Order: sequence, then structure tokens, then C-alpha cells
Amino acid sequence: MSRPIGIFDSGLGGLTVVRAIRRRLPAESIVYFGDTARVPYGIKSGRTVTRFAIEDCEFLCRHDPKFIVAACNTASAAALAALEERFTMPLCGVIEPGAAEAVRAGGGRPIGVIATEATVASGAYRRAILGLAPDATVLEQACPLLVPLVEEGRSAGDRIVRLALRQYLAPMQQAEVATLVLGCTHYPLLGDAIADILGPGVHLVDSAEAVAGEVASRLAADGAAETGGPGDVRFFVSDNPQRFRDVGTRFLGEPIGPVSLVAPEDFFAASPATPARAEDVS
Ligand code: DGL
Repeated sequence: MSRPIGIFDSGLGGLTVVRAIRRRLPAESIVYFGDTARVPYGIKSGRTVTRFAIEDCEFLCRHDPKFIVAACNTASAAALAALEERFTMPLCGVIEPGAAEAVRAGGGRPIGVIATEATVASGAYRRAILGLAPDATVLEQACPLLVPLVEEGRSAGDRIVRLALRQYLAPMQQAEVATLVLGCTHYPLLGDAIADILGPGVHLVDSAEAVAGEVASRLAADGAAETGGPGDVRFFVSDNPQRFRDVGTRFLGEPIGPVSLVAPEDFFAASPATPARAEDVS
């Protein structure tokens, strides 16, 4: 039997990455794990997100994946280096592919990044962009209201969504960014509204699409791409499979099949416990 691609996220947002990978690589089978018991990751510390990401990957490893994708921008920003150190199979996050696409499209003009608080605080997109284009002007903006608004099912035309977007995007407009990275799993669902506010001169980079391209080229380079097909998708979550199915369908763009619940005690703390530091308990 062919080995699947393992994809994990803090919850259901990573389904935008599953969607992009399925479109690009329809023959591949996928095992998806959404850590719905501990979502959101975007307001947590890098240390906590790293621990969660390790546990998520440990779970995926039970399914013998040939490749692991950290679909969550926050987990990619905080934990990719720790994951690469710990796991032997090829893996990638969404930051580097998104940054590379932004630099390619940017033409030397200012690049904006919108993301969760934790992703912005990590500076991961800025570092990745500057690593490729040291002279680039990078403007980052945390948009904490957008994840709950999208999960609530509010559409791109919703008045509250528009109001929030106009506030968050104002600094981008002032800085005349020419490229904007949608640095969170949920933001592609607001792509139309963002494009509408920023106007046709601004190129939007969807990290989900960028990572699908990266996975495709790495599997091809390793001779590990599936040629038969079509592949299937299996879904696992750490809480509330029903909500995952109901809300997730919009993210995946197709009906979600059976979703299995993984009991938290079955995988939490799979990674060795790290003692809390004083600042964590004060
Ligand atoms: N998946 C997260 C990300 O892409 C958004 C949701 C969360 O905060 O956990 O950053």
C-alpha cells in the first residue's frame, strides 16, 4: 500500500492546505490531524506551540507518512526547526514556500504579511523573506479577529469582516505593499474581500498554494510521487469531530468523510515533558 502524506494543523484551517495539495497531487493519499482540542495556536507561546506540534507529528507517524506538512502557519513559524531535528522523514512548513513566492512576485516592492499574533511575533516570515531578498521591505500585521470570524461562517461580504479587514489592511495600504502574504490557514477564505479592499495592483500569496507546489516538487525530486490514484483522505481530530465536519467543509471545498476522534490522553504529552520555567507559572 502507498504511504500517505501526513498533514497537521491546530484545527480545521489546514484543510485549505489539504485542498490545495489534493488539487495539485490527486493521486496522493493524505492523513490529516487537526488538534481541535487545543486550537487556537495563534495566541500561544512558541514553546507551547512547539510541544503541540511535536505531539501532532508523533501522532501522524503512527500512519507511516512519507512526508509531513505543517499546514499551520503558527506551528510552522514556531516549530519547524524542532520538527526537523526530531523527525527523520522529509517535512515542510508553509512559511518558506510562501516567502519564496512573495519574493518571486514582489519585484522589489514592499511585501506585506498578515498572520496570527504568534506568527508575527516569531518574525518567521520576515526572516524567510529577508533571507531571500535582504533589501526587501517587509511589513507584518497580526489580525487576531479574522480566525474566529471565518470559523463563524461570516462571508467575505460581511460588514464586520469588512470593517476588521479595513483596519488591519490600512497600514499595508499606507506602505503601498505590492504583495501580501496570506500567512494563516484561514485567510484564503477572505481572499476576495482582501483583493477588493487592496485593489488589483496587489498580488496575494496564498501559502496553501505555495506549499502544494513545494510538496509536489520535493516528492518528484525524491521519486516518491504517487502515480496511480485517486488518493483518499483520512481525518483525525482531538475534539469535536462534528464541528470539524460542519465547519471544515467550507475550508476543504468538498464534503468531509468520516472523522475519527483521537482521545487526548492517547497522544498529549507524547513528547517528553519539559519543566516549566518561572515565567510560565507566574
Ligand atoms: N492554523 C493557524 C495558522 O495558520 C490559525 C488558527 C490558530 O490560531 O490556531 O496560523
